[in-house]
Amino acid sequence: MLAKIAIGENLKVVYINDNFRRNGESEKVVEELKQLGLDAILVDARKEFMNALKGVSDAEEKRKIFRKTFYETLARVAKKENAKFLIQGTIAADIIETAGGIKTQHNVLEQIGIQPRDLYGFKIVEPLKDLFKPQVREVARYLNLPKDISERMPFPGPGLLIRVVGEVTEEKLEILRKATQIIENEFSSEDIFQAFGVILPGKATGIVNGRREYGYIIAIRVVKSKDAMTAEVPKIPFEKLKHVAKEITTKIPKVTRIVFDITDKPPATIEYE
Ligand code: XMP
Repeated sequence: MLAKIAIGENLKVVYINDNFRRNGESEKVVEELKQLGLDAILVDARKEFMNALKGVSDAEEKRKIFRKTFYETLARVAKKENAKFLIQGTIAADIIETAGGIKTQHNVLEQIGIQPRDLYGFKIVEPLKDLFKPQVREVARYLNLPKDISERMPFPGPGLLIRVVGEVTEEKLEILRKATQIIENEFSSEDIFQAFGVILPGKATGIVNGRREYGYIIAIRVVKSKDAMTAEVPKIPFEKLKHVAKEITTKIPKVTRIVFDITDKPPATIEYE
């Protein structure tokens, strides 16, 4: 919206479906943008991302491959549209964590010495780079954006990719999309900053319909936070946790075990990779 106010008709809005969004999210976001008067295009790059990440299990390597594929996809669109600038929503926490060596956020380049103009052909403009998440929400409220946008639960740029620990596969993504929907619904309230599921590496034995099922293990992560720089796991009634575990294992029989993560940030980060 800021870009629209600044450059009007020169703006082209692009949303990439990288295969790591929530259930139906790409279509939903593009529709929301259209309703705000932004003529967004949806770029389907699912195959490119999955091919680039095949056989890769290291967390930082996955992040770097994601970043490369993300900007190569945007470079293709920019070339076609003859665009010389990319306006993106990098915020202060992204830069601090990447420059501080905590983890490579997908959208930080110039600040760590990567020149996008040489590599991808555009200059990057980051109007929100000095703001933290609560201030970004203030901007959204000031612009009168719908509550669904200004109060939305944060979701990492690389999405479900960094919530599958180790190599990503179609099967794991399909399971995680379903689990994400259940967990977000069950824990969405104003004082919860993020609630999500993570597929842990390895499998665990379980029983489904009286038979052995060697299934996936999902960790539930629920945190309170102001600006994502620190985070605290809130007290959650045990019955609630058991209810959510039952929901997940009943609706997704390939998941045989649920664990609840009680680690604050620090020492853990919010995401697993
Ligand atoms: P961590 O895991 O570093 O997450 O404690 C802090 C906040 O940032 C989100 N996050 C990302 N957002 N690109 C993003 O746009 C990324 O690469 C990325 N990694 C983590 C995370 O969901 C949390 O809100």
